[in-house]
Amino acid sequence: MKMAWQLSESAARGLRRGMFLVAGIVLAAIAVFAVRLALDPDGPPAVQAIGGPFTLVDHNGRPVSDRDFQGRLLLVYFGFTNCPDMCPLAMQEVAVALDALGAASKDVQPLLVTVDPERDSPATMKRYVAQFHPAILGLTGTKEQTDAAARAYRVYAARAKGDSVEHHYSVDHTGLIYVMGKDGKYLAHFASGTSGATMAERLRRWL
Ligand code: NI
Repeated sequence: MKMAWQLSESAARGLRRGMFLVAGIVLAAIAVFAVRLALDPDGPPAVQAIGGPFTLVDHNGRPVSDRDFQGRLLLVYFGFTNCPDMCPLAMQEVAVALDALGAASKDVQPLLVTVDPERDSPATMKRYVAQFHPAILGLTGTKEQTDAAARAYRVYAARAKGDSVEHHYSVDHTGLIYVMGKDGKYLAHFASGTSGATMAERLRRWL
């Protein structure tokens, strides 16, 4: 006996075929994604997305781009010269790492990119990085240029709320030090508070 809600045999066949088709498409999509992950030697795409082209001004007032540093390991840190704590500590440990690497440190270029270009002129950057190590290069630029570089490195930076007095404000920012390979691609990052000795030990692997 056939009830009104039952599908006719051909309708049921059609429905089953439709379901098989959807399942097939889903499986194919999963397979394509898995193959792409397997073929990707540098890991998931999110990791590759850190870094990229930038155009900035170095602490001698010269325009520079990411291409100027190819062939060397880069330590990229975003901060600002008025930072009371995180930045000086990070720069201090970078200096310790460079000294620990000795002659091999010539293939390592540490960059301090400002997130506060309004106050951090090339001259200010130059005076600041010189306190830590002669190899550290300070980078600044227009607000558009430094914002673009921060975006490329997925760095968060924002003027702290509550400090409305002009030229007396703090900037909250990401405290990671990015290690970029000689080909300009992301290799690793050091969390804030990593010691210079640990940095040197890990950097030796890529030198
Ligand atoms: Ni800082």
